[in-house]
Amino acid sequence: MKSFFIGNIEIKTPVIQGGMGVGISLSGLASAVANEGGVGVISCAGLGLLYPKGKGTYPEKCINGLKEEIRKARAKTKGIIGVNVMVALSNYADMVRTAIEEKIDVVFSGAGLPLDLPSYLTPESTTKLVPIVSSSRAAKIICDKWQKNYNYLPDAIVVEGPKAGGHLGFKKEQYIHSKSEDVLIIESPVGMPGRAIDGEFIHNVNSGLERPKSCSFHCIKTCDYTKSPYCIIKALYNAAKGNMKKGYAFAGSNAFLAEKISSVKEVMSTLEREFFLATHKLA
Ligand SMILES: Cc1cc2nc3c(=O)[nH]c(=O)nc-3n(C[C@H](O)[C@H](O)[C@H](O)COP(=O)(O)O)c2cc1C
Repeated sequence: MKSFFIGNIEIKTPVIQGGMGVGISLSGLASAVANEGGVGVISCAGLGLLYPKGKGTYPEKCINGLKEEIRKARAKTKGIIGVNVMVALSNYADMVRTAIEEKIDVVFSGAGLPLDLPSYLTPESTTKLVPIVSSSRAAKIICDKWQKNYNYLPDAIVVEGPKAGGHLGFKKEQYIHSKSEDVLIIESPVGMPGRAIDGEFIHNVNSGLERPKSCSFHCIKTCDYTKSPYCIIKALYNAAKGNMKKGYAFAGSNAFLAEKISSVKEVMSTLEREFFLATHKLA
């Protein structure tokens, strides 16, 4: 497979791992992908829950969690590491600023239009900025605004397809036991639809049994817990810890095709082999 560039950074294996929160794509997965020559991506969603120890508010714990994850990833790889920061996060600005201070290679940002992303760059920073879009209209709005306000254009653009899974996490086993009819579209407190695997928690949400009584995180800009059918950050954190009675798994529409848990090395070599076969057939 041919390498490609994001700005002046060469990606030897042309694979960008999708950011997956809460707690799914952290330094372990990201560094494994980077060690195979791709771009490994740490998700910023809910890091304060994953780093609960010590003093400080939830947003402060998120900042410390991100610093730790980036440093852990750097200790495991010399490859390319990015972070995924959803625009919908209340602490979006904190996460972008911290990632740039930590000299992250790439910031990927979607779940909203990252219209002010270049404003966080400093004259010394070398971080590349990559919006995630699902339409050409969104790409055009971002490019126009960045050009006009910052004289900056995206270093690359990630285009999410209609089969994408989003926006957050769970235990991988979920995919292996799922069937095609289990993957469905649900509403989320983020204010966008999400694709997820059906289960007990989603049934309870539909019956109104998971309404939050309070909120100590204020993690999503647009979430009003008094109107929300469930707490998304708790649901995804529970799922990441394997408690599927109290959470659910976001998944792409082809998730049910997974038959086993594979290592990053295996996935990368399968992709390479399949790419070779496909291009060979076409030639
Ligand atoms: C479990 C899971 C969690 C995800 N979490 C996030 C997230 O935190 N932020 C984000 O921008 N996208 C998130 N996504 C979307 C992925 O990063 C990716 O863009 C999407 O799966 C499309 O890539 P694909 O077509 O290669 O699967 C998530 C997807 C899944 C399946």
